[in-house]
Amino acid sequence: MLKEKIKIEVIQKVLDNWRGFFLPYQMALHELESDFKIIDLEWKIQHGYSVIEHMKIRFKTLRSLVEKIQRKEIPLTQEAVRNEIRDILGVRIVTSFIDDVYMLKEHIEQREDIRMIRIKDYIQDPKMSGYKSLHLIVETQVFLSNEIIWVPAEIQIRTSAMDFWASTEHKLNYKYQGETVPEDAQKQLIELAKASSLMDKEMSNLRTKLLAN
Ligand code: GTP
Ligand code: MG
Repeated sequence: MLKEKIKIEVIQKVLDNWRGFFLPYQMALHELESDFKIIDLEWKIQHGYSVIEHMKIRFKTLRSLVEKIQRKEIPLTQEAVRNEIRDILGVRIVTSFIDDVYMLKEHIEQREDIRMIRIKDYIQDPKMSGYKSLHLIVETQVFLSNEIIWVPAEIQIRTSAMDFWASTEHKLNYKYQGETVPEDAQKQLIELAKASSLMDKEMSNLRTKLLAN
């Protein structure tokens, strides 16, 4: 017999009683935001420009969390949700240059208060859709009054060109939620992704040329 999925309303009711569970996530989000603001400030002082064009932090909405628990059939325990859903916290960092994406990754790897759990490099291996971005699953340290805990987060790092493509594609696809976007539109989006990669490459080349002068 097929296992019946737990109902959305049931999951929602359980999560409503988990306030304490989400508290470390709130703290970790502030922590990560301030870490990256400091990196940017330091970079600005040393190199004269902001490495982070902009940054967005987000807490997964209850709705999207509930849907993911249902979709992935995750047991309704705090331990299972903590271990299996690594993107309750999201940080999106947008840079001007591709090199800066990897520079930030290396910086994160060197920190002792953040541990790298998983790297998904959709810049080297773009998604079928054309999507490019560097996704890092990390854990960040949070100091509570009597213990230190590690809280998971997903950090997406990408260039302005990649970000423009991703946010625009998301808007265009929104209309088709649950259905497939027409094939010719998909092809056009892949072409546009290539065009945005070209822009990133040219910008990098230009920077190298100007810095050499
Ligand atoms: P989830 O279970 O949905 O989290 O998938 P996953 O664990 O395989 O994560 P993945 O590394 O694929 O990243 C998912 C996130 O990347 C999404 O929430 C989007 O923010 C972004 N993303 C992935 N693919 C696309 C895409 O084709 N277009 C756009 N615009 N964003 C994408
Ligand atoms: Mg995700």
